[in-house]
Parts: sequence; C-alpha cells; structure tokens
Amino acid sequence: MTPAELAALHEAHASDPQAFWLDQARRLDWDRFPTRAGDWSFDADAFHIKWYEDGVLNLSANCLDRHLPAKADDTALVFEPDAPGTGRAVTYAELHADTCRFANLLKERGVGKGDRVILYLPMIPEAAAAMLACARIGAVHSVVFGGFSPESVAGRIEDCGARVVITADEGLRGGKHIPLKANVDAACDLAPGVETVIVITRTGADVPFVRGRDVRWEDHKHRLAADCPAEPMGAEDPLFILYTSGSTGKPKGVVHTTGGYATWVAATFAWVFEPRADDLFWCTADIGWVTGHSYTLYGPLLHGVPTVMFDGVPTFPDASRLWETIDRLGVTILYTAPTAIRALMREGDAPVVKHRRDSLRLLGTVGEPINPEAWRWYHDVVGDGRLPIVDTWWQTETGGVLMTPLPGATSMKPGSATRPLPGIAPILVDAEGHEIPGNDVSGNLCLTSSWPGQMRTVWGDHQRFIDTYFRTYPGLYFTGDGCRRDADGDYWITGRVDDVINVSGHRIGTAEVESALVAHPLVAEAAVVAAPHDLKGQAIHAFVTLNAGEEGSPAILTELNAEVRKHIGALAIPERIQFAPGLPKTRSGKIMRRILRKIAEGQLDQLGDTSTLADPGVVDQLVAGRG
Ligand code: WTA
Repeated sequence: MTPAELAALHEAHASDPQAFWLDQARRLDWDRFPTRAGDWSFDADAFHIKWYEDGVLNLSANCLDRHLPAKADDTALVFEPDAPGTGRAVTYAELHADTCRFANLLKERGVGKGDRVILYLPMIPEAAAAMLACARIGAVHSVVFGGFSPESVAGRIEDCGARVVITADEGLRGGKHIPLKANVDAACDLAPGVETVIVITRTGADVPFVRGRDVRWEDHKHRLAADCPAEPMGAEDPLFILYTSGSTGKPKGVVHTTGGYATWVAATFAWVFEPRADDLFWCTADIGWVTGHSYTLYGPLLHGVPTVMFDGVPTFPDASRLWETIDRLGVTILYTAPTAIRALMREGDAPVVKHRRDSLRLLGTVGEPINPEAWRWYHDVVGDGRLPIVDTWWQTETGGVLMTPLPGATSMKPGSATRPLPGIAPILVDAEGHEIPGNDVSGNLCLTSSWPGQMRTVWGDHQRFIDTYFRTYPGLYFTGDGCRRDADGDYWITGRVDDVINVSGHRIGTAEVESALVAHPLVAEAAVVAAPHDLKGQAIHAFVTLNAGEEGSPAILTELNAEVRKHIGALAIPERIQFAPGLPKTRSGKIMRRILRKIAEGQLDQLGDTSTLADPGVVDQLVAGRG
C-alpha cells in the first residue's frame, strides 16, 4: 500500500464511518446487503454491539461457491502433513464437495442452524471442510486445540451444549501420535450429552467405536450428496465460539458473528497481505487458535488465495522444515509466531541459507511481542534483508489484526506493531482510566470504538463479557495488554497486564493452572506467575504450598505436572514448580503476586515494600528456595 492509499483509508473512515464500513462489507457476497454498518455503545446503560444487522450472507458460500465459476480446479488449500513431501493440493471444487458432504452428514445427525459442534482435529483438509460445513448450515463451530486434555474438551462440550463432536483417529505431529479419538471418548464420559462423534481417518490407528454414537467419515463420504444449499445467515448470527483463557475462572467462550467477522477478516487480509493472483499463503497457526481461523482458513479462502495447512512442527524432521517446504511449495507469504522464530534462530543460519526462499515476498508474525533480536534475524537471515515484516497485534477477541505496519506505507521498527489499521482507535490509560495523551508514554491499551470483527459476547454469560472487557475502564474496551507509545507515535505491546501468561503464543490463565495444582490432595495453596523465557517468551512459574507436615519431592512434582496435564493439557505444565513454605500475603489474606512475579523474574532487588505482609519472613524463604 502506498502512504497516500493508507491516508485515503484513514480519511474515508474519519469523514464518514458508516459509509467506510459499508464499503468494507462490499468485499463479501451478500444475499441481502446491509443498510447500516455499526450500531454500538460501550456505555454500561446502553451497552450493545451490532454490525451490518439486517445483512444476510453465508460465509461458506463466500469462501467456496463464489470461486467456483472461474477457478473450480484451482488449488484452494495445500495440505502439508508431518512427513515432508507427502501432502496434496485440494481444489475449490473438491473442498466445496467435501464441505457439502460434511454438511449433509451433520444434517443427518440432526445438526441445524444455531447448534454447536465441537471440532478436535489435526490440520487436515477435512478440518477445513468440517468448519466450512458448520458455517454452511449455520451451525456454530467450536474448535478445540488438539493439545488440550479430555477434561478441557469435556468442559467446552458442556459449556456450549454440543451434541456432536468431530475428531480424527489420531493426530501425528513431530513424529508423535496424539490419541484424539481416545481423548474424545474420555471427554464424552465426563460430558455425557454427546450423541454423535464423527471420526476422520488420519493415521488408520485401530480405535474403539461406540455403536450408534460414532460415525466413520470415510464410511459415509461417498454416499453423501456433494451439494448442499448454503443457509442464509443473519449478519449477527453466531459463526463460532473459541474458548480462551482470561484472568479468572474457566476459559471463556468468545463468540464471533457472521457478517462483521467475515468483513473484518476480508478487509484485514487485503490490507495486511495485499493478495496477488500467484500467491501461496502459509500461516503456520493451528485452527485450534484464532489465527488459524482468521488467517489459515477464512482470510485466504475469502480472497481465493491458496492456503497451506501445515500439520507438523517447524523443527521436524529438522530445523530446515519451514525453508525446505517454502522452496518445495513456492510459498510467497509466511505468517508465523515469534516463538517459532526464536526456536529456529537458535539452530543458526545454516538450515535457512541452504534453501533459496526466493518465492517469499512478505513475512509476518503474530501472537506475542517479538524481541528485536528475533525480528532482525527473521528480517536479515530468513528475509535476506529484502522482505518486509508485518508484526500484527490482535487477540481472539478482536477477530483479526488491529495494529501492524503496512509494507510500503508504514516504516518498520523491530519489535513494534507500529500503527492501528483504518477504523481502529487505540488509547493508553492509567490505572484510573484517564487517557495518557502525547507520545513517549506507557499505559494500559484500550480501544475507544468498535470495529466489525469485535467479539459479541461470552457464550452463555453476557454479563461476564461486559465485566471482563468494559468495566475496568467504563466506556472503553480494555485489551488486557500494556503498551508504550514511542516518541514517533508508534505502539509497542509490552505484554499482558492481567493474570494471563503467554507461553509460546498460547494464552494460559494463572487461575486455571492454580486450580489444577490445588486439585492434588497434598497441595494447600498455589500461586502461578509468568517468568521470562528465551524461547517461549514467557514461562509458567508456580509456587506451591503443601499441607502442613508434607515435604516437596520429585515424586510430588511429577504428580503435580500430571494434574496440570489432566485438567488443562501438556501445554500448561509449569516450567518451574517451587515448593514454598508459605505465600506472601497481606494481612487481609490476599496473595501479593507482584512479589512472586519479581521472585520468578529473578529481580530480587526490586521486591518493593514487604512490610505490609502478614509474615514478611516468607519472602526470604521464597528467595532462598528459588535456587
Ligand atoms: C499478544 C492471538 C505483541 C497480546 C492473535 C494479546 C501480541 C494476546 C501480538 C492475544 C503482537 C498477539 N505483539 N503481542 N504482534 N499478537 N499478542 O488471543 O498480549 O491468542 O493480548 O490472539 O497475544 O492472544 P490470542
């Protein structure tokens, strides 16, 4: 984009926001074009958020049917499985047919508009078809990342009241088998409402089938009709629920609706990646996360850009995997996470430079702050110093990118997401919610106005939505992120300021890990904080107090890790569990996390005032126990 084009977009928004947002909606095919764009208020007494409310459309038709006339036999997605070179391309016609078959199978099993369907799947083409099938019939998909435990799957099944689960026999990543179907069986034992489990064959492993409940996709695929009408959906009908961790309690079901989400994904994909006819787009994110929803699946498909579905890991079979795959497939845009970049940087330049990478024209990062050192390596080594980098800041809640440099229009700064996209209005506030004006300042990052891709509610708990995001600073959407605006007015996200830990780009709530730890019968109390980590960005540091008379031991440590694996999943296992004789508390019994954070960070000279603690001696014991 040229600076003039970007300025024109900002100007168009400023002069007539309604017209600007209606224009963005023209990126989609509507059955009925909306007469109005945004209708919202963040004020407590009039709170509501609606976009394009009288519009009618179907997202699956926008991703598939509209490409059929011109490019039915073109590649819609490229499946790149765990073992390099064993993948295949899937055309729009094929993806459309499989989507329709899936939709017809779901209908046979009683799924209709508004029903929730849980997906617990590897990154296989059938996963794309299953998501698009839900969208086609108006069912609400809720994808659960394959790294979550059966108990987590059960919690989500119960929370959204799903009666159908779609899974695979096994996953296969980094050469390791993941027992997806067995996990679903265990989840169904815990959450008994499931009537149908559709099982896709990925590895061919021999998995038990429950008669009447379980349906093997391959047994039905060929008899199902390869067409299915796309259900006309109201713009505000829910499209998906994606569970995400917050500061308190269980994960929240973030709800995105059809018209606004699709508009925002289409607009941001266009602005940030400026798709071209010969692109092959590779976003390495799993569909279990929002990045996988918006930019592995929907964004590229809406634009008719072939997308890579990668079912492996960047370091398997070796540290050249990404670069070898880029050359073999001819990838033009790579969009990945800082944690992957740091892991590959550690392996040195050799695995990179032995591959050409000359098909690439753009690099992107997402999910966590990128440290300038990793940014420079990505730019200088991966990008040969010639490729722009889009450092895209956004959240599950925002549906799509909100801040990023735009190649050609914004100058890049290593580690800064730089500027908001058109229509996005960030401000920094202090602890009392007063705006911090000017440049060279830091504060809590809020948004003053809505945008089409904003989440609409927490599934089943609208009050929690309002309380979580709009109560801290009345009238503002609070992101939970801290942020600096530098002397040039560029934004630098400094990380979460709430009790959310970003481990390798995965959001983990401290409260969830704490409740998993205290589930162990010998644990009296646990407190979890973030510690900086070279590869993961942040790591989980847990302080655990055992019942009186109990001693910490390697055996208990193993059991505690097992608790976390059971209640959440291996991705939440703490980097470090420190047994603590007591936790620092105020006289009213509140745990002083600030002190625990400093201990975990190793900033022992910055513990601050500890005199208000009920027992200041606890701190010395914790420092000594840190080792
Ligand atoms: C962090 C992922 C710095 C941030 C799309 C946010 C980032 C949280 C960036 C959301 C970035 C995401 N620079 N921090 N480019 N992108 N974050 O919901 O703390 O998994 O609040 O969405 O990741 O994580 P989520």
